Amino acid sequence: MDPDEQFKTPLFDAMVTLAESRKISFHTPGHKSGKGISTRFRKFVGPKIFSIDLTTLDEVDSLHKPRGVIKEAQELAARAYGADRSYFLVNGTTGGNHAMILAACNPGDKILVTRNAHKSVIAGAILSGAQPIFFRPTIDTRLKLTLNITFEEARTAIDTHPEAKILFLTSPNYYGLCADMERIIPYAHDRGLIVLVDEAHGPHLRFHKSLPRSAVEIGADLCVQSTHKIIGGMTQASMLHARSGRIDFPMLRNVLRFVQTTSPSYILMASLDLARMQMATEGEKLLEKTIQLSQEARSRINKIPGLFCFGEEQVGPFDMTKLTITVTALGLPGYQVSRILNSRYNIQVEMADAFHILVIVSIGDRKDDLNKLVEALREIAAENVGKSSPVETPDIEVLNFENEALATPREAFFADHHYIAMDDAADEISSEIVTVYPPGVPVLVPGERITKETIDYLKRSLKLGGTVDGLDETNQFIGVVKRGSLPIPGSRSF
Ligand SMILES: Cc1ncc(COP(=O)(O)O)c(C=O)c1O
Repeated sequence: MDPDEQFKTPLFDAMVTLAESRKISFHTPGHKSGKGISTRFRKFVGPKIFSIDLTTLDEVDSLHKPRGVIKEAQELAARAYGADRSYFLVNGTTGGNHAMILAACNPGDKILVTRNAHKSVIAGAILSGAQPIFFRPTIDTRLKLTLNITFEEARTAIDTHPEAKILFLTSPNYYGLCADMERIIPYAHDRGLIVLVDEAHGPHLRFHKSLPRSAVEIGADLCVQSTHKIIGGMTQASMLHARSGRIDFPMLRNVLRFVQTTSPSYILMASLDLARMQMATEGEKLLEKTIQLSQEARSRINKIPGLFCFGEEQVGPFDMTKLTITVTALGLPGYQVSRILNSRYNIQVEMADAFHILVIVSIGDRKDDLNKLVEALREIAAENVGKSSPVETPDIEVLNFENEALATPREAFFADHHYIAMDDAADEISSEIVTVYPPGVPVLVPGERITKETIDYLKRSLKLGGTVDGLDETNQFIGVVKRGSLPIPGSRSF
């Protein structure tokens, strides 16, 4: 990476130049540089943002056929991230996951997927007709967390399924824990697999030596990062990075045209151009401060009776900008601690589950914000520790979701289905992706047999305050494949 060239922001510069030229617009967007926007909106955000809400014009290039400043901006991103090609995404890592799977898989291809995958990965399998074979990370019952994939777990999955064509990893996971990609990726490549990585939580990794290495640096064929989640991208702005060799680039470009809007937001794309520039030119310094803030907060939280925040001593190298705080000793589920922080202290955390709250510390945080968090946690802990009875938590092992797959996600998704009461659903086949939010890891995938244990887990999560996606609006009914509607072409009978 040439540090000097990384100061350039070709897309943003072209947008500013075009906005300042004040050309008369007879094209979209209809608000015409803000002149037609609602007054309330303009008053709140100011007028300038609308002048760069542009559309595909020669001066600012085309996302789907880049030949000018977007091409240049994507090339700078590729060099900053150590990729052969980088692509700007305007539908988040969700769109990137769809694109990676569609580009790498043909219908019927077997794809080894870690079960900590986001539901967009299952949607990718439904869209492409690929057949996922799930394998599971270990659950640490002490930390009450799903860890990430070890080399041995990946090797067993690869050796057991020599027919698989693709390996799909999610690393880091929500809690900052990484798969052992340094060993897994070369092993998978030696056995002819294409390696795809959902690196939604890792757009910063490349820019600080104390953080785990990023997937594309290690050799992943494709990886997607939510620039908007961790660094300076606007919400929805992500990047897809690619290495040449195993990926058909024309196919990838085609697929990106399918899964993304023909009217990409220039504001989102400019935020990618600027976020890359910021990270490449001052990322190390900014992340140094972020890591320091996070590590200080971790050690202060660990001195508060009733709270625990794991570090490298427990889990080895991980993304230590994340703080996963175990709250079970307070007798409260994480969901409730999160609500107390919000309503009483004006503090919003990234997510809560039954056992933890998860705090993202980023380049946008200040010491004062972390002080407030630690002091609020100190008060909540003092009020609750030793006073309440132990929190009723879902059985952590159920998170292992060893469901039997009776049809592919695509077969079950397109089969006739209906909603039935959850209590009657044991032994039926799910037609939905059912996910407990957060962290958004699928509990059921279309085609899987629903078990009583899974239903109990969903009910307990709801009772504790979790959000379950994939049920009906009342949270009492679940989508199942109608009996007799499978086989559909190519499926086994049901
Ligand atoms: C691991 C993982 N992958 C993908 C996504 C989807 O990313 P995006 O919101 O950028 O579409 C998420 C969102 O939480 C995620 O946690």
